[in-house]
Amino acid sequence: MHVLITGAAGFVGQALVARLLDGALPGLDRLTLLDLGFPAPATDARVVQLAGSITDAAPIAAAFATPVDLVFHLASVPGGAAERDPLLGRQVNLDATVALIDAARLQAATRPAPVFVFASTIAVLGAPLPAQGVDDATPCRPRLSYGAHKLACEILIADATRRGWIDGRSLRLAGIVARPAGPSGLLSAFMSDLIRELAAGRPFACPIPADCQAWLMSVPCTVDNLLHAATADGALLGEPRVCTLPALHLSFGALAGAVGTAFGVAVDRLVSWGSDPALEANFGRYPPLATPLAEAAGFRHDGDACRLVLAALGQARG
Ligand SMILES: NC(=O)c1ccc[n+]([C@@H]2O[C@H](COP(=O)([O-])OP(=O)(O)OC[C@H]3O[C@@H](n4cnc5c(N)ncnc54)[C@H](O)[C@@H]3O)[C@@H](O)[C@H]2O)c1
Repeated sequence: MHVLITGAAGFVGQALVARLLDGALPGLDRLTLLDLGFPAPATDARVVQLAGSITDAAPIAAAFATPVDLVFHLASVPGGAAERDPLLGRQVNLDATVALIDAARLQAATRPAPVFVFASTIAVLGAPLPAQGVDDATPCRPRLSYGAHKLACEILIADATRRGWIDGRSLRLAGIVARPAGPSGLLSAFMSDLIRELAAGRPFACPIPADCQAWLMSVPCTVDNLLHAATADGALLGEPRVCTLPALHLSFGALAGAVGTAFGVAVDRLVSWGSDPALEANFGRYPPLATPLAEAAGFRHDGDACRLVLAALGQARG
C-alpha cells in the first residue's frame, strides 16, 4: 500500500505519520510525505520525503509516479494567514486540491482510484452559528476565505468521487489540541496554550471569558478519525462524502478545570480570563453540536474533558 500525506510535517501530519509507521495500517509499504520542508531526514525505509510546495506540479507528479492507494490531504494555509494573504490561501487551500484530484484522475484512467481523505474544517459553517445548535443540516455560510476554499474542496471531492477519479471522504475538523508552543498562524492557538501551560503549573491569561464555549478534539483522537476515514466504507458519508466530526462541546472554564483534575494542578490561581471580542466571536460562541451522520459512520470524540486533555498532551487515554 502506497500512502501519500500532504502537510505531513504539520501538527496533525506528524502525529498521523507516527501512527502509520507504528503499524496503524497493515500493508503499508511506501509512505510519501509532502511538505515545504522537514525537521529531520526520514529514518524508516518506507518513507519518501518530498520537500516542495504543493502549488508546484513537480512534487505532485513525483508523489504519483508510484501509484497511490490512499491520500491524506492535510496541507493548508491556516485561517488567519489566509486572510492576510488571500492569493496564497487560494493557491494552497483550493488550487492545490484541484491539482491533486487531477493527478488522481490520470491514475484512475488505468488503475484503481485512490481513497482521498480531506482535512476540512468547521470554518465552512461560518459565523455566527445558530444559537440553538448545529447539526448535519446546518447550512454552510463561510465567513473566511479559508472556510470558503475548504467548502469548495468538499464539493470538488464529492464530484470527483462521483466521476470515479477518487474515493473521497471530507472530515470537518473542530479545534485540535494541544499544538506545540510556537508561531502557527492559527488564531485558535490559545486553546492549546491553555492546556499546555496550566498542565505545567504555569500561569495563563486566556484571551476570552471562562464561559465561552468551543468544540474540541485531541490530536490522537483526530488521528483515530482520519484512520477510520481511510478504512471505512465511504458510502456511509452519502453522496456529499462529507461529515462534521463529533467533538466535545466545552467551556474554557470547564477545560481549565479538567486540566486541574487530570494533572493535579490548582488552576484557579493560575488562570485569568480576558475579553477579546474578535477571538470570542470566532472561537468562543459554539452552540451544542449534533453529528449523527459521523457517529453512525463510526467516528468518535474524546469521551470527556479529562480524557481529552490527557490525550492532548500525549498521556494514556482510558
Ligand atoms: N489544527 C486544527 O485545529 C484544525 C482544525 C480544523 C481543520 N484543520 C485542518 O487540518 C489540517 C492539518 O492541520 P494542522 O493543524 O496539522 O496544520 P499545520 O499548519 O500544522 O500543518 C499544515 C502543513 O501544511 C504545510 N503546507 C502549507 N503550505 C504548503 C505548501 N504550499 N506545500 C506543501 N505543504 C504546505 C505546512 O508546512 C504544514 O506543515 C489542515 O488542512 C487544517 O486546515 C486543522
